[in-house]
Amino acid sequence: MVDQLWWKTGVIYQIYPRSFKDTTGIGIGDLLGIIDSLDYLNNGTPGSLGIDAIWLSPVYPSPQVDFGYDVSDYCDIDPIFGNLEIFARLVDEAHKRGIRIIMDLVFNHTSDRHPWFRESRSELQNSKRDWYIWHAGKKGKPPNNWGSYFGGSAWQWDEITGQYYLAMFTSQQPDLNWRNPAVKQALFNVMRFWLDRGVDGFRLDVYNQYFKDVRFRSNPRKLNPLGFIYSFWGQEHIYDRDQPEMYEVLSDMRKLVDAYPERMMIGETADEDDYTKALDYYGRQNDGLHLAFNFDFLKSKWQPAYFRLAIRKWEENLPDWGWPAYVLSNHDVTRHFSRYNRGRQGLPRAKIAAAMQLTLRGTPTLYYGEEIGQAEVKLTRKQILDPPGKRYWPFYQGRDGCRAPMQWDNSPQAGFSSTGSWLPVNPDYRFKNVAVQQNDPASLLTFYQRLIALRKKTAALQIGNLILIDNNHKRILAYRRQIEDRKILVILNFSRRPQTLDLKADNSLYVLLGTHRNDTSILTDNQVALAGNEVLIIREGKNAKEENE
Ligand code: GLC
Repeated sequence: MVDQLWWKTGVIYQIYPRSFKDTTGIGIGDLLGIIDSLDYLNNGTPGSLGIDAIWLSPVYPSPQVDFGYDVSDYCDIDPIFGNLEIFARLVDEAHKRGIRIIMDLVFNHTSDRHPWFRESRSELQNSKRDWYIWHAGKKGKPPNNWGSYFGGSAWQWDEITGQYYLAMFTSQQPDLNWRNPAVKQALFNVMRFWLDRGVDGFRLDVYNQYFKDVRFRSNPRKLNPLGFIYSFWGQEHIYDRDQPEMYEVLSDMRKLVDAYPERMMIGETADEDDYTKALDYYGRQNDGLHLAFNFDFLKSKWQPAYFRLAIRKWEENLPDWGWPAYVLSNHDVTRHFSRYNRGRQGLPRAKIAAAMQLTLRGTPTLYYGEEIGQAEVKLTRKQILDPPGKRYWPFYQGRDGCRAPMQWDNSPQAGFSSTGSWLPVNPDYRFKNVAVQQNDPASLLTFYQRLIALRKKTAALQIGNLILIDNNHKRILAYRRQIEDRKILVILNFSRRPQTLDLKADNSLYVLLGTHRNDTSILTDNQVALAGNEVLIIREGKNAKEENE
């Protein structure tokens, strides 16, 4: 309804393709499965989720050491997922439904099976030698103290030519040398390849690591007990990422992407402590990322103060042209349903979290299954397949717990596959699945559908400004969204007990959506009384009830 860019007003939905829907019976999801599910995601009616874009975790050919984040060919589709023809169909079918497609660009490193690396490692004189970062080492040791995210040194000794190569993730993911113009050229061509095939945007994997210090200086140490287990955690990462050259490359990427209409880039900023660094990458003028994920919520405890702080940090520090992008879950972290499931409060809290994410100023990215409250699946050490995840992230539990198959219905394998599944389905699928929630007006899925539909028709929610209300309330997070004279109030009770919020409203109030009631009599003596875990989304105005959104 608002004439604004889709990546500002829309809702992004992340699909981990291995886990979404398997149509070939190999126990791994595929592109045809995603095509089959498009109507569920958005068929234009209130009975579908209503999302605006799909971010596909990598589907390129890959040895799958890091499940696709180790790419061996940037310009094709892995046969386990389909092929380029099926991909074209996906883009086409998605576009017919108004759904955009965002590809994952893994440009910090390739797979060690990528032909570029095979050549590069084959001999010192090879023309691709300088496409990766090689070093002779110092006195028989790695050149510096840089550590891998997954433990150990980031330098891998390679017998073939007797030198080290740099690999910030697994040893099968050698880092590319972005200082070589031929590498930049080749990767920019990859972007053109996909843009020409109609993709609408890119998610940039750990982009702030592309450049490393030219002099290979060691990182200073930082006091962190985890540093004793993994050197990576005991360092200030000033030399192995966030180098100034990144700004120029991002601005060149931006020019490339902006040459195509209505395309975008959303960046994953690698950092452990301070995600606000991402703010720098919106560019010096409007020449950087269109969006940078805000990962603060991944660490927020279930108290309004944590969320409020994260929101304020971004609202106060974003450049004028910047736009926030909130995340509650993704394929690397424990699902938020489980993170917040203390005292079995998972479901009411999932509703509060959804209401928050979908009414804040900014673009929400949902992670498949969160709309039905999918929880972590408990895996034994043997069942954790992601080899890097096995070694670390988040510390020995691996990362696969959040990647269990989508729970479509209560048939065997939860309707994910007719045969088996690469990871065990969460046993709760028997009562928690799309089919049971689809027609239940009290379900989480229905709540998501209604929230997204409301957002879609309400300009204040899509692009209005945001003003936090009662910044000191310990249990209630409340804010107003406003565009011109149209105002929406969002009140979220984070406590399981009743709470009150002081509210001076000169106008009439009309409940648009909530968890506990739909009457308009919410104000008594300038106070709103909320039930435990209540969500209230209210329209404020002289004639709030009659007003047109
Ligand atoms: C990003 C991805 C993660 C992957 C890593 C290396 O952090 O989200 O899954 O392992 O980059 O590509």
